[in-house]
Amino acid sequence: MIVVSVLLLCVGWVAGSHATAGATDAFTGATAGATAGATAGATAASNYSLDSWMTALMPVIGTMSLLDLSLPGTHDSMTWDLSTTVSDGSNDLPPPIAWVLHEFHDFAPGHFIKNQSRTQGLSMTQQLDNGIRFIDFRIMYTSGPNNTASATHDWYCLHMLETNNKAMTYLREAKTWLDAHPGEMLVLWLSRHGNTCAKGNDQYPNVPDPIKVAFWSQVEALFGDLLFDEAHGLLNETTINDMRARHQRVVVYASDYARFTNNSTRAIDACLIDNQLGDSVQSENATFHTLMARFADADNIKRNDKQQNRLYLQSMAAGAPLQQLEMAALLHFLPKIAHRDNATAKCAAVFAIPGLTAWCPPTLMDISLLTNYYNQRILDAVITHNLALPNAIYIDAVDTDGTIRTGTTLLDRAPLHGANGVSGANGTTAFAYVDTMVLYNLKRACAAAQSRSSTSEVCHELPPVLEARRKSHPLQTWNDPTHGRLLGWP
Ligand SMILES: *[C@@H]1O[C@H](CO)[C@@H](O)[C@H](O)[C@H]1NC(C)=O
Ligand SMILES: *[C@@H]1O[C@H](CO)[C@@H](O)[C@H](O)[C@H]1NC(C)=O
Ligand SMILES: *[C@@H]1O[C@H](CO)[C@@H](O)[C@H](O)[C@H]1NC(C)=O
Ligand SMILES: *[C@@H]1O[C@H](CO)[C@@H](O)[C@H](O)[C@H]1NC(C)=O
Ligand SMILES: *[C@@H]1O[C@H](CO)[C@@H](O)[C@H](O)[C@H]1NC(C)=O
Ligand SMILES: *[C@@H]1O[C@H](CO)[C@@H](O)[C@H](O)[C@H]1NC(C)=O
Ligand SMILES: *[C@@H]1O[C@H](CO)[C@@H](O)[C@H](O)[C@H]1NC(C)=O
Ligand SMILES: *[C@@H]1O[C@H](CO)[C@@H](O)[C@H](O)[C@H]1NC(C)=O
Ligand SMILES: *[C@@H]1O[C@H](CO)[C@@H](O)[C@H](O)[C@H]1NC(C)=O
Repeated sequence: MIVVSVLLLCVGWVAGSHATAGATDAFTGATAGATAGATAGATAASNYSLDSWMTALMPVIGTMSLLDLSLPGTHDSMTWDLSTTVSDGSNDLPPPIAWVLHEFHDFAPGHFIKNQSRTQGLSMTQQLDNGIRFIDFRIMYTSGPNNTASATHDWYCLHMLETNNKAMTYLREAKTWLDAHPGEMLVLWLSRHGNTCAKGNDQYPNVPDPIKVAFWSQVEALFGDLLFDEAHGLLNETTINDMRARHQRVVVYASDYARFTNNSTRAIDACLIDNQLGDSVQSENATFHTLMARFADADNIKRNDKQQNRLYLQSMAAGAPLQQLEMAALLHFLPKIAHRDNATAKCAAVFAIPGLTAWCPPTLMDISLLTNYYNQRILDAVITHNLALPNAIYIDAVDTDGTIRTGTTLLDRAPLHGANGVSGANGTTAFAYVDTMVLYNLKRACAAAQSRSSTSEVCHELPPVLEARRKSHPLQTWNDPTHGRLLGWP
């Protein structure tokens, strides 16, 4: 049943994939009259900005729970500030990286690994300013960057490499931001490697329980009463208005919950995250169709999850296929052997994109941008073809103006060592990620309000604002097979 409707959806949608929001869209039609009449006191419209989108929507989302919303998020959120030091507990390094570390220890492989680890370019504050409300906060107890393993340990963020600053530094940034944005809410997920339910040594290897509890105490002390407290009720049964009345605007999901938080009611067990991953990145085509099917079914998944107080989180992140890592390492460190082994072609073939035969994306962010290029079509279909959204999405290469970058130029904050991405037109092209999700939330909330015969001026005033914002970063596809960007495929 689901499969059939997805196929129908795809057919209809591919045919019209270059159109912006269709004129037949019932939603656009419904708001056309209101736009004209709202010119006098367009308060909701003039109030809207990415850094306070929840505040703007509050008149219609207040009676919903957070598990009825869809939050734009980032994947591996703190990789914008990676050092070149491998973190403790990165003992699940992919074999090619372990090989690089072993073979090339004299050639500062840290820069190579950074090329393969960094997926974000915006700081914590910039992410929040740009509307991100779900943060994938990965942490480990380790010695500081450039220090020996025996040096003093603390908690740092990580993705193979650890961050330049301690984890608390980034959380303080978030707290400062929340204080300046009293109507906004934030969901944080603390884990080492994006594992919802692993416990003890499987989550934080060799970190004693008191060390975890001590870090949690710091988090509690920092956010204090801002933390959502399940002692007052479960998340699925608490309205956003009630959360705001209690000033509880930060929801923390903690992996290894019992040991990490000592069963605190001010954190939620990350086992309650229904974390759905994409495909195994072997082919863009497969990933694309998997995600389309997932989003077509998202309402059902959300309904089931909410009944169990679970949050449906969907990854739209890129993963590096092992062959890409292997071949990128060969190409960088042993170009002659790479050439002999036809490494570029082998690497390109992994993505299974017609015409992509002579480019091995040299960094993980190159893959993120490529993945985003196909992701934008799925996200756009949420508005143009009534797909549904999960409770939160986490995604790579989030850019300014609440966009995801789809072009070929790497995000420039903290430039990678010698890496700028490939040159060519459409380098910084981006898609309106956050505005698309906000518009979806608004449409859903307004439809629910209407069914209760309750109306709000934001339902008339905000949609045109959001549509216009979407038009400034619309779905854009082009033909650049060399770098895997195709028109009308898959
Ligand atoms: C716009 O913002 C002002 C000041 O923050 C607030 O009083 C007003 O209610 C807001 N209007 C809407 C429609 O959200
Ligand atoms: C990082 O990637 C870029 C290509 O984008 C390459 O020029 C640079 O040499 C790489 N650096 C390392 C250390 O791998
Ligand atoms: C680590 O050492 C490198 C090279 O000396 C330096 O550039 C970097 O700033 C240091 N990082 C930290 C966090 O001290
Ligand atoms: C954990 O909580 C229990 C009871 O709430 C308390 O007695 C104990 O001291 C706490 N343990 C730590 C390490 O804080
Ligand atoms: C936390 O709660 C679980 C289940 O109620 C219990 O088994 C465990 O001992 C508790 N852990 C701590 C550290 O209090
Ligand atoms: C893409 O995937 C779909 C569904 O998984 C499949 O039917 C189709 O043949 C694939 N197309 C290409 C070009 O690989
Ligand atoms: C919320 O979750 C709890 C625990 O799973 C469940 O018993 C309850 O029925 C749920 N409430 C709603 C409104 O879905
Ligand atoms: C390298 O791979 C390409 C694409 O598969 C193929 O056309 C070419 O013949 C291969 N070259 C060698 C030397 O194996
Ligand atoms: C850039 O994208 C636009 C469509 O958005 C396309 O018309 C143009 O040809 C692209 N440029 C290149 C060089 O691919």
